Amino acid sequence: MLRYLPVNTTNPNLLVGLDTSDDAGVYQINEETALVQTIDYFTPIVDDAYAFGAIATANALSDIYAMGAQPLTALNIVGFPISTLDKQILADILRGASDKLNEAGVVLLGGHSIDDPEPKFGLAVTGLIHPSRIWTNAAARIHDVLILTKPIGVGILTTAIKRDKLDEPSIHMVTEVMSTLNKRAAEVARDYTIHAATDVTGFGLLGHTSELARASSVGIDINMDAVPILPRTRELAEQGVVPGGSKSNHRWLQDKVVYAPTIDEVDQVILCDAITSGGLLMSVAEHDAAALLVALQEQNIDAHIIGKVVGEHIGMIRVNKSID
Ligand code: CO
Ligand code: CO
Repeated sequence: MLRYLPVNTTNPNLLVGLDTSDDAGVYQINEETALVQTIDYFTPIVDDAYAFGAIATANALSDIYAMGAQPLTALNIVGFPISTLDKQILADILRGASDKLNEAGVVLLGGHSIDDPEPKFGLAVTGLIHPSRIWTNAAARIHDVLILTKPIGVGILTTAIKRDKLDEPSIHMVTEVMSTLNKRAAEVARDYTIHAATDVTGFGLLGHTSELARASSVGIDINMDAVPILPRTRELAEQGVVPGGSKSNHRWLQDKVVYAPTIDEVDQVILCDAITSGGLLMSVAEHDAAALLVALQEQNIDAHIIGKVVGEHIGMIRVNKSID
């Protein structure tokens, strides 16, 4: 569908637009300042209304952090069946969002709501960045090291919630992961040489990695054993608890990923799992990677080195295990 969008690429102030499948758009205002804008909203993925508001907010802000930018202002987008559902639920969603915006230091300017049979919530977010400090998807370099700042498996675990298959401690854990802002991770990383970055969301770890590989014209090697995966993910995936989005990610990535024979189909689907509010995936200069990893972990961020950028199989991903 994106093919049919009218794209204006002639405006010199447009720094990042629709053509690179990046996390947010960037428009230059002057030599020092560029505007970064993004929007995201979706239907509830957890039963707790407050947590849903917080997760939707962390998720919407994440695209700003993934550009290396600082979010400043936000607008709520609300769809709610106002005549049939308890208004307290909406109040809780908005409170969860507001608390998360306060934590991020982002100011809510307003919003818009419509009567909608299915609840939806999200935000449009605006941030600022110096034009020379933008982290796009398109500038990863050979020998870079890939760092991921949150575990994956969120899509599989939230699908288990919908099917009443997840215990309370696991629900709490996955809610925590999704509600965590990428703010600290982005702030820590700004002191290091980040060549490219994105956040891991609907296209899954491999989908977003694939965009990075193609946009940067590099190859990427991922070590499956190094990828942090939430507890219970594998067990649930083996039982077929997998969201439709993860399966379709796995399908469309088939010709973009070479899996070692030791990576079975369940592992492949986990790597393609469609995620809400995932971590930052950063392509870091080799000389800075070890120090950045330590700095992130010192902030209690569950960061891991999961792979590297290579000069082979350009535009493609190869997935191995440590022993391969
Ligand atoms: Co993104
Ligand atoms: Co997005």
